[in-house]
Amino acid sequence: MFDLSLEVLRVVEDSAIASARTMGMGDVKRADHAAVEAMRRCMDTIPMDGTIVIGEGERDQAPMLYIGEKVGALNSAAEIVVDIAVDPLEGTNLCATGAGGAITVLAASEKGGLLHAPDCYMEKIIIGPAAKGAVELDAPVKQNLKAIARRLQRGVDDLVVVVLDRPRHQKLISEIREAGARIRLISDGDLSAGIAAAVAGTGVHLVMGTGGAPEGVLTAAALRCLNGEILARLVVKDDAQKERMQQMGIHDVTKIYNTTELAPGHRLVFAACGVTDGNLLRGVRFTGDGVLTQSVVMTSSTPKVRFVETTQLENKPDVKVRFR
Ligand code: FBP
Repeated sequence: MFDLSLEVLRVVEDSAIASARTMGMGDVKRADHAAVEAMRRCMDTIPMDGTIVIGEGERDQAPMLYIGEKVGALNSAAEIVVDIAVDPLEGTNLCATGAGGAITVLAASEKGGLLHAPDCYMEKIIIGPAAKGAVELDAPVKQNLKAIARRLQRGVDDLVVVVLDRPRHQKLISEIREAGARIRLISDGDLSAGIAAAVAGTGVHLVMGTGGAPEGVLTAAALRCLNGEILARLVVKDDAQKERMQQMGIHDVTKIYNTTELAPGHRLVFAACGVTDGNLLRGVRFTGDGVLTQSVVMTSSTPKVRFVETTQLENKPDVKVRFR
């Protein structure tokens, strides 16, 4: 029987393996290109009528997986209509330098189930299920941290806040330090950090700061399945961007979005696969006994979160599958 979650698992695995082959080559374009190509190739084998709503950019800027691009094996009989958001390689720099935390990501939903966010910045606060409802995007940092600590039944000094290491976050970082919480500065990858904030045992309690809007929508799709929460607001750079947002149907650019507004779909499917080792997922391992990947696949309508370890046997008749 056709199961979209298994199909999209294949997509993120293929793109993770393709990009992991470029790990440490110091070539971000090559890493990204490998992920995009593999993702597209694999999506075109799925019996679906898919439209990319969050992709690699606008049609003129990126030759592949542009917003509006149709994907899927369109002439197939078992066709379902889906909107698709992708981040073919989240943490391109991480992969190119061999650093941890790079992942490949895809979310799908029925039509209209994912906000068509432009490729701009987004202010975010991301928390797990226990802290849901305890924070406000515009509340003082100290107040939010106290509220989260109370919900998690610990002191503020026990919290770990993930923040992208960027000059724009200087004030935020000082405020978190003043409040007494611990900080994990990351060079890239607020999407995987956001997912980790909603998974117990990852050592991440929240994510704060400004990152990509597409990553924000993808995070929301995952959080819908994990019972987590993201509060977010688009950051408008200039009038041209404001006009672009209005063309995309976003009229109030000051609006604070919650998780459901960013990913309102009723049938959300989210999949991510580790490229390099991270908090949440192990990276791809190329071994004599096949290629090993670790992924997470989640669905909202039949609420399930699956961590999947796959051995790609690569048609080698003598490969032994390892017990892991
Ligand atoms: P890509 O690797 O997908 O380009 O994004 C990495 C990333 O660090 C995201 O996790 C984050 O949301 C965004 O870039 C931050 O943007 P910037 O590097 O411009 O601060």
